[in-house]
Amino acid sequence: MFSRFKKDTPDARPSQGGAAPAGAPADKAAFARQPAQAPVQQRAAAEAVAADKEKKRKERLTELKVEIHKRLLDDLNLSAIETATEQSLRGEIAALATEALDDMSVALNKEDRLALTQELYDEVMGLGPLEPLLKDETINDILVNGPKRIFIERAGKLELSDVTFRDERHLLRIIDKIVSAVGRRVDESNPYCDARLIDGSRFNCMIPPIAVDGSLVSIRKFKKDKLRIEDLVRFGAFTEEMAAYLQAAVSCRLNIIVSGGTGSGKTTTLNALSSFIDNHERVLTIEDTAELQLQQVHVGRMESRPANVEGKGAVTQRDCLRNALRMRPDRIIVGETRGEEVIDMLQAMNTGHDGSMTTIHANNPRDAVSRLENMVAMSGIEMPLKAMRSQIASAVNLIVQASRLQDGTRRMTSVTEITGMEGDVISMQEVFRFERLGVEPSGKIIGRFNATGIRSAYSDRFRQWGFDLPASIYEPIV
Ligand SMILES: Nc1ncnc2c1ncn2[C@@H]1O[C@H](COP(=O)(O)OP(=O)(O)OP(=O)(O)O)[C@@H](O)[C@H]1O
Ligand SMILES: [Mg+2]
Repeated sequence: MFSRFKKDTPDARPSQGGAAPAGAPADKAAFARQPAQAPVQQRAAAEAVAADKEKKRKERLTELKVEIHKRLLDDLNLSAIETATEQSLRGEIAALATEALDDMSVALNKEDRLALTQELYDEVMGLGPLEPLLKDETINDILVNGPKRIFIERAGKLELSDVTFRDERHLLRIIDKIVSAVGRRVDESNPYCDARLIDGSRFNCMIPPIAVDGSLVSIRKFKKDKLRIEDLVRFGAFTEEMAAYLQAAVSCRLNIIVSGGTGSGKTTTLNALSSFIDNHERVLTIEDTAELQLQQVHVGRMESRPANVEGKGAVTQRDCLRNALRMRPDRIIVGETRGEEVIDMLQAMNTGHDGSMTTIHANNPRDAVSRLENMVAMSGIEMPLKAMRSQIASAVNLIVQASRLQDGTRRMTSVTEITGMEGDVISMQEVFRFERLGVEPSGKIIGRFNATGIRSAYSDRFRQWGFDLPASIYEPIV
């Protein structure tokens, strides 16, 4: 390998850099450039060789893994696996792998042997190639586009990982393992499915032929340690002044909608906001996939359920919400309002369950209101537009907008109050916003949070409830 590289790039070596004739000082710069370029080329070529070597090493390990995995499935006592401790199982797998390698007369160095037994363990006990990605705390999302392309999201940015499945069958086997663990099935007639991994991560899959180029899998990793208000302030998601305002808003039982695009941080914001709820309150949460982690003592969690294979047994978010109203809640939190449950949510907000919160998929506060209108219209309830708007205006007090900016950062780009109706239109006022000022050459967005100069319409309520926010937090920086 290395000798080939030497042959192909003879003038990469400084001693052979014969482009500049000896004794031609006229082109000093060109002469000086020659040796400086050589190490760069050498390094690039060496890197290419190393990458090629690493690729070959991985391919060989994969082949070995397939072979040994087959043998493991034959040799391992699968019924004993259930009760075995992790340590003894790892020992057993390592021993069987060593035996198989000896049989095949393959010698591996210690590092490769450890990597191989880890991967075998993940295959037998876990989710195969997904395991290292699931364990990596810096990864938020895992997105599989067919067996050979697995993308990951880190710090708000998508990147292609170097992890792959062997082939579509391998990927399907792991999908099957996940969905069968929650009593579901994917096949020709049921080609997509939602599930939750053992660690709480949200999982969705869609298999061929609906997924054209191989199965599609999306995983939102579950974070045990949810981001708290302090963390979000530290990461620049919003300012301390905005946090003080939000604390007053939650404590004074405003009805709040967190609006945002996909993966913009809606659930994270909702979870963080819930930390301001008083510990004595009874909070009921309703979600399609339980992600919220409230810190209060008195929390009742509900998770909706899709219909089973025979089309029976569905329990929708709306069913949960209607039932929740009979469960003496102080507050109701709906993870995401996306359908007919909107009617009951608005009614709950209007009829004594103030302090309720939810998220909505929308790109700005005005859009969020339009989404609410659309959802009400789609739920089949016939209502004049004005009546519908006035119901929304009296139900919702505050919309906070979560956004994922192009540079991957997540910010609360707007805090907007709903103040009532003016004619047929819902009136709103923005109290805080994120102002974009420019972009650094690196792509990082330059901007700042600012107050708009408008005092909260709820200032009196805040004061009456003991949250005397200083007038200065509403003053804009100019
Ligand atoms: N301000 C932030 N700084 C850094 N990471 C964040 C921030 N907000 C959220 N995240 C991370 O971004 C990921 C997506 O967040 P989250 O699940 O809250 O988004 P979402 O808008 O609810 O997404 P979806 O539309 O898929 O439900 C999570 O892994 C979360 O930990
Ligand atoms: Mg969410």
